[in-house]
Amino acid sequence: MCGIVGYVGRDHGQGSSALESVAPAFDQEAADARHGALDVVMEGLRRLEYRGYDSAGVAVITPAGIESRKKAGKLTNLVAELAADPLPRSLTGIGHTRWATHGGPTDQNAHPHLADGGRLALIHNGIIENYAELKAELTGEGLTFLSDTDTEVAAGLVGYIYRGLVDSGVQGDVLTLALQQACQRLEGAFTLLAIHQDQPGVVVAGRRNSPLVVGLGDGENFLGSDVSGFIDFTRRAVELGQDQIVTITPDAVAITDFFGAPAEGTEFHVSWDAAAAEKGGFDSFMEKEIHDQPDAVGQTLLGRSDVSGNLVLDELRIDESILRSVDKIVVLACGTSAYAGQVAKYAIEHWCRIPTEVELSHEFRYRDPIVNEKTLVVAISQSGETMDTLMAVRYAREQGAKVVAICNTNGSTIPRESDAVLYTHAGPEIAVASTKAFLAQITAAYLLGLYLAQLRGNKYRDEIADVLTDLSAIPAKIQAILDDADKIKQLGADMVNAKSVLFLGRHVGFPVAMEGALKLKELAYIHAEGFAAGELKHGPIALIEEGQPVVVVMPSSSARDSLHAKVVSNVQEIRARGAVTIVIAEEGDTSVEAYSEHVFYVPASPTLLAPLLTTVPLQIFALALASAKGYDVDQPRNLAKSVTVE
Ligand code: F6R
Repeated sequence: MCGIVGYVGRDHGQGSSALESVAPAFDQEAADARHGALDVVMEGLRRLEYRGYDSAGVAVITPAGIESRKKAGKLTNLVAELAADPLPRSLTGIGHTRWATHGGPTDQNAHPHLADGGRLALIHNGIIENYAELKAELTGEGLTFLSDTDTEVAAGLVGYIYRGLVDSGVQGDVLTLALQQACQRLEGAFTLLAIHQDQPGVVVAGRRNSPLVVGLGDGENFLGSDVSGFIDFTRRAVELGQDQIVTITPDAVAITDFFGAPAEGTEFHVSWDAAAAEKGGFDSFMEKEIHDQPDAVGQTLLGRSDVSGNLVLDELRIDESILRSVDKIVVLACGTSAYAGQVAKYAIEHWCRIPTEVELSHEFRYRDPIVNEKTLVVAISQSGETMDTLMAVRYAREQGAKVVAICNTNGSTIPRESDAVLYTHAGPEIAVASTKAFLAQITAAYLLGLYLAQLRGNKYRDEIADVLTDLSAIPAKIQAILDDADKIKQLGADMVNAKSVLFLGRHVGFPVAMEGALKLKELAYIHAEGFAAGELKHGPIALIEEGQPVVVVMPSSSARDSLHAKVVSNVQEIRARGAVTIVIAEEGDTSVEAYSEHVFYVPASPTLLAPLLTTVPLQIFALALASAKGYDVDQPRNLAKSVTVE
C-alpha cells in the first residue's frame, strides 16, 4: 500500500559500523560525483508514488544526526517542504509514500517515525496487527507516542531493543540485531526500513507478507517496494524471501532470517528501463498505458507457442499428470482482475470443458469453499501483492489445491507463493486504474485455457492453432481502435455532466460492461453500473428514464444461439424508454444503427476474444470523461495501486 525507498552510498566519512569495514577507503572525488541520498530517495518516491499518496516523508543521516521532513498530501508537498527547509547532503537515507491505514493522512502520522530519542528513523508498509498490545507494553516502559500509527509503535520497539542491546554492551551492527528481534515480536504484514545515526552507511530492512526488493549498485545499494524505486540507478536486483532481514551498506548486502541465520535472495535483471516507466509523451500514465496495449498483449503472447501452433508454457511447472486430472478450476482475484477472471471462465470452460468458478478473493476463504487436490486455482493479480488474493492463495494451497498465478510484477509475493506463475508482460502499470494489465491478464488466461485443452485433448483441441492465429492479430486491431479514437474521446468529453451511466453486455461482453462501469466510477466518480443485458428485464430496466446514457457492448454477429439478436432487442427496449444508447459493435454490424445515438465500431474477432477489443473504447471513454472533469486520472481519490491490506 505504501512505497518505500532506502539508499546508502559509499563512505561519507562519518561514524563506523561493523559492516562498513568492508567499504574501500574514502574517495572524496567519487563521493562528490555520486548521488546524494536525498536525490535517490526522492526519485524513487516519485516513481513509487502510485503505491500511495496520502503523505510522504524522508529521513537522512547527517553529521548532526538524523534529520527528517514529512508532509501530508502528495509528494509535491514534501518537495515544497524540502525547498523551504532543505536537508544537508547525506549518503544514507530512507523515504516513504503513504496510503493511510492506522491514523489519518496528517503530517504527524506521515512516515518516517523517530525513536531512541530521535536517533533512529523508521518507515513501514503494511499493518502491524498486535500494535495495540505492543504500544501498551512500551508505554509501560516509559515510551511516549505522538501519532496514531502502528508504525510509530514498531519504531518505538526497534529503538527500545536497540538501546537495551547497547546498554548491555553489545557492539557492532546493533541495528540489524534490533530489527531481527523486533520482527520476531511483530504480527501482521510489514516491510520496515530503519536507519540509526550511530550507524551511518547502513540501512536495515525486514519483511513479512509485504514487498521489498534490493537494488545492487557499484559502491551504493538500494531498497525499494519494487524495482521502480531504484530503476534510474541500477537494473540488478535481488528478490527476498518471506521473513527476512536485509542489511545494506555501500558495498555489501547481508540477508538473514528473523533469528539471524544467514539466508539468500535471488538475483535478477530488471528488463524495464526508466523510459518505460515514464509517460511517453501522453498527458497521463493512464493514457500511455491504454496506448501500450497492443504491446502488452503482443508481449504476453510472445514466445509461448512453437512454429506448429502448439502452446509451450515452460513456466507452468506443475506436473502434467496433475493438470490432466484437474476436475475444477477456481479463479481468484479482485476488481478489474476479477473481471479478467470472468472472461477467462467463458474461454476455459469452452476450450477445456472443466467447470470454472470465479470468486472474489476476499469472499473465498470465509465461506468454507470446496477445494481439494483436484482443484486448480488461478490467482490473477496485476501487482502480485493484493492481500485478499494472497490470503486466498494460501488458503487454497492449505486445502491441497495447486495454484497458478497470473501476474504482471516479477518477484512479487503471490507468484512466489504459488506453485507456478504465468507472467503477463504488460510492463509497469503506473496509473492506479488498471488498463493494459487487464488485457494482458485476459491474454494470459486464454493461453492457460488453450494449454490445458492441448494437454487434456478434447474436441476443441483442433481450435488451438486457429485461436493462436486470431490472438496474434489482436495487437494490430487494438492499434486500429486507438488510431481512430477521436469520436469516443469527444463523446466522453461531451458527457462531462452525466450523473449516471449504465453498461450492458452479454456472454463475455458482461464482464466487459462491468469493467467499463468500474473505470468510470474510479476515474470520474460518477455512478456507473454494469449489467448482464439479459438481466435488464428482471429489474434494472426500471432505472431507464429519458436521457439515461446506456453503453451496450454488442456480441459479435457470429455469437452462438442468436445472442446478437437478443441484445439488439435489449437496445430497442431501452431506447423506447428514453435511454441515450451508446453501442460498441463489430465492424460491419449495422443492425443497431437505427436504435443508437452513437455507435463505435471495433474490428471483428471471434466471440471469445472480443473483450480484448471492446474494452478499449470503454477505457478511452472513461479517461476522456474524467479528464473533462479535470480529475487526476492517474491517482484517483481514495485508491491505491496495490492493496496490501485485507
Ligand atoms: C481497478 C483496479 C483494481 C485492481 C484490484 C486488484 O482499475 O486496478 O480493481 O484490479 O485492486 O489488484 P491486483 O490485480 O493487483 O491484484
